[in-house]
Amino acid sequence: MAREQWGTKLGFMLAAMGSAVGLGNIWRFSFVAGNNGGGAFLLLYLGCVFLIGIPLLLTEVSIGRKAKSDVVGSYQKLAPKTPWFFTGFFGIFSAFLILSFYAVVAGWSLYYFFHYITGDFFQAPGEGGFGAVFGGFISQGWQPLFWTALFMAMVIFIVVSGVKRGIETANKIFMPLLALLLIVLAVFSLSLDGAMEGLKFLFQPDWSAFSKPSIYVQALGELFSLSLGMGALLTYGSYLSDDKKLPGAAIGIGLMDTFFAVISGLVIFPAVFAFSIDPSSGPPLVFITLPTIFEQMPLGGIVGLIFFFALSLAALSSAISILEVPTAYFMRLFNWTRKKSSITVGSIMFFLGIFVSLGFGVWSGVTPIGDRNILDSMDYIASNILLPLGGLSMALFVGWYFRKSTALKAVDLKDDLFGGVWYGIVKFIVPVVILIIFVSSL
Ligand code: PFF
Repeated sequence: MAREQWGTKLGFMLAAMGSAVGLGNIWRFSFVAGNNGGGAFLLLYLGCVFLIGIPLLLTEVSIGRKAKSDVVGSYQKLAPKTPWFFTGFFGIFSAFLILSFYAVVAGWSLYYFFHYITGDFFQAPGEGGFGAVFGGFISQGWQPLFWTALFMAMVIFIVVSGVKRGIETANKIFMPLLALLLIVLAVFSLSLDGAMEGLKFLFQPDWSAFSKPSIYVQALGELFSLSLGMGALLTYGSYLSDDKKLPGAAIGIGLMDTFFAVISGLVIFPAVFAFSIDPSSGPPLVFITLPTIFEQMPLGGIVGLIFFFALSLAALSSAISILEVPTAYFMRLFNWTRKKSSITVGSIMFFLGIFVSLGFGVWSGVTPIGDRNILDSMDYIASNILLPLGGLSMALFVGWYFRKSTALKAVDLKDDLFGGVWYGIVKFIVPVVILIIFVSSL
């Protein structure tokens, strides 16, 4: 059977943006920016996106496009009889780890979305506000799992429907819709009295932050939210034909990811500061702080509904790309149909998700790594170890295993200034930088 392909280059770009733009952009980026020098961090991050993110993104996509195979098969095809393919398993393992907790959190988002549709969450039901609502919900046994299962079923449905009919079509709808929803929310948030403080938190540059080493590590660490290192973009690249040029697409994807992160900040921080609340990040921000603000806001119920719809869409489009990595691998390895492969893989991830979910309830005392609960431990292994190793292998593979002319041809660059700069970055700078992030995060 012929390998599936994207219908258009735009379809591929939207799918790759869908992969990159996820929970990370919405609840992490702007908080990290605000706490690390605001506008100064934003500039530094943009520099990192251009200097490292986009060159690595280009590299990852090019491996897939050249090999037209999955994350393990690509190395086997391009470097036969070498151990390079082992590095593909970093991607397969991180996909299993990441999606099993991503689906749990996305399930929480669906639960909130549903309760905004019914109007139950326009005001926090019961005593204790949204802190009690959230804490009570995630610590139950079955209820959160029902929402995780529902989310996984949607992810599987889209992946089963195929690259073009499923993944591409879904992202062609989701991404413009997500942009529209977030822009509407940002305009509303900016119109609140006191929104200026939020803008200051996000954008006011504190140049002295440049003197702290941690800001560089933070900015570099954020790069992995571009979905680099797992093989999602490699797999998506494998459905691209050779006539679709890569450099422009890579720049577009990198810039749009940053755009979505900044827009999310414009939604969240003006509102947080307008209600004089201390900013936080992660699940407490979106599942406790924001709903508490929404209930005090004019039209807050509608704002909450739109927000959790957007959050669910962002999670869904990222989750699709994660499921596709092992789905493509098992389809080739066992000659399975897309349906069999994605249902099998998705079910295993759901099964792992049961442990993650129970980690907030009956197993809340289980802390596999340090004092981290089950979710944080899985996130730690995937984000701090497997993804950096995956990204490092891709850079070393293209920078050192390929000849320079092969590498340049793979990414559609010539041996000119641009090509030379990209090659130097991938060969020397990216590996050094990843090693720095790796060591400093351990
Ligand atoms: N980029 C997604 C986010 O920011 O939430 C998460 C993610 C998706 C990570 C796909 C890795 C990946 F391969």
